[in-house]
Amino acid sequence: MSTDLVVRNIGELLVVDDAGLGRVHDAAVVIAGGRVAFAGPARELGATLDVNVRQIDAHGALVTPGLVEPHAHPIFAGSRAAEFAERARGATYAEIQAAGGGILSTVRATRAAGDDVLVEGTLRRLDRFLLNGVTLAEAKSGYALDPDGELRLLRLLQAARARHPVDLSPTLLMHVPPPDADRTEYVRQFVSHTIPAAAPLCEALDVYCDVGAFTIDETRRLLEAGRATGLLLRVHAEQFTHTGAADLAAELGARSVEHLEQLGPDAPARLARAGTVCNLLPGAALTLKLPWPDARRMIAAGCRVALGTDCNPGSSHTESLPLMMSLACMQMGMTIEEAWLGVTREAARAVGRADAGTLRPGARGDLVVWQTDDHREVVQRYGTPLVGTVIVGGQAVSGPGS
Ligand code: NIG
Ligand code: FE
Repeated sequence: MSTDLVVRNIGELLVVDDAGLGRVHDAAVVIAGGRVAFAGPARELGATLDVNVRQIDAHGALVTPGLVEPHAHPIFAGSRAAEFAERARGATYAEIQAAGGGILSTVRATRAAGDDVLVEGTLRRLDRFLLNGVTLAEAKSGYALDPDGELRLLRLLQAARARHPVDLSPTLLMHVPPPDADRTEYVRQFVSHTIPAAAPLCEALDVYCDVGAFTIDETRRLLEAGRATGLLLRVHAEQFTHTGAADLAAELGARSVEHLEQLGPDAPARLARAGTVCNLLPGAALTLKLPWPDARRMIAAGCRVALGTDCNPGSSHTESLPLMMSLACMQMGMTIEEAWLGVTREAARAVGRADAGTLRPGARGDLVVWQTDDHREVVQRYGTPLVGTVIVGGQAVSGPGS
C-alpha cells in the first residue's frame, strides 16, 4: 500500500489505546491508504521511505488523534440569541420553553427553512468543529418533530456528510412531543413506522426523557423499537429532573446516556456494568447554570466517561470540544488524562467507531498537529483553540499544510 503522508519531528505524540493514554517523544506517524500504518518513536521508522512521499514537519509540536464529538445537534435554522439575552437578564430556560420559545422556536425556524439553508448551516458548524480539532461527530436530528421532517433532517445530515471532511454519525433524536399532537398516537407512529424508516439513514436512536419531553414509559417504548431495528440507543437522561432514565438506559444496554446532572445513587454501577458511556456535557451545565455532573462518582463506579459540546442553538451554542475538556478539569474534577480519553477513546466508543480516537495501526488517518508541545496546555489554555493542522484520512484539510 502506498504511503499518503509522513508526519515527522513530533515533540509529543499522544497514543490512545485500551491501556489508556501513552506519550511518545521524538515521534513520527505514517499514514497509508487513509489509515495509520505507524505511530511511535521516530527511531523505529526505517530510513527507507520514498523521498517523494508527502511530509509534514511538526516542528516539535504535540500530535494527537482527531477529536471525536459524541453529542451534537448541528442541523437547525434560526437564532436563539434573544433568548440568551433574556436569560442573561434572569429568565430561566424552563420559563422561556413554557412561553413557546426554546426548542419549539428552533422547530419553527427549522421547519420553515429550505434544504439548502439547513445543509449550509450544518457545513459551517462542521467547519468550526474542524477548527477545534474534531474529525468525527455524532449528529442528531430533532428539530422537526414530525415524522417526515425528522426523516428530512436525517437525509440532509447525510448530504452534509458527503460534502465535508468531518465525518458524521447521524442519530434520530426524539426530542419533545409536538405540542399539538396526540402523544399516544405520535409515539405509536414512530414505533411502527418512523423509526424503521429512519434506520437506513442513521446509526442511533436518542430519546429525551424529562419533564416537558418524553415520559419514562414513552421512552421505554421508543427505545425498544429502536433496539428492534438494530440502532444504537442513547438517552438524554437526568438533566433537569431525576426520572430513572439512566437506569432504563442501562437495562436496555444503551450505548450512551447524556447530561446526567441529576443522576440517582444506583445508576453509576448499573451503567458501568452495561458498558454504557456517560456523555457529559459541561457546556449545557454552564449555560443553564445546572449543577455540574458528578464525573468523579461515575468514574469511581467504573463508568466510561466521554465529553461532548452538546452543540445546539439553545443550551450550549459552541463547537469547542477543547473548551469542554477545560471545564471538565476546572469544574468537574476530571484529570487531564480523563479529559483526553473523554474526547478520544470514550467518545469513539459512544459513537460506535472503534477505528476513531486512537492511533493504533489500522485506525483512521485523522490527526491534529497542535500549536503547543504539551497535551496539558490544550486543557489549561481554555477558550483559545490551539489547533494547528488537521489531517483527515491522511490529507491536511485545515491549517498550515492544507
Ligand atoms: O441536549 N436537553 C434537551 N435538548 C437539548 C437542548 C436543545 C435546545 O435548547 O434547543 C440539549 O441540551
Ligand atoms: Fe443534547
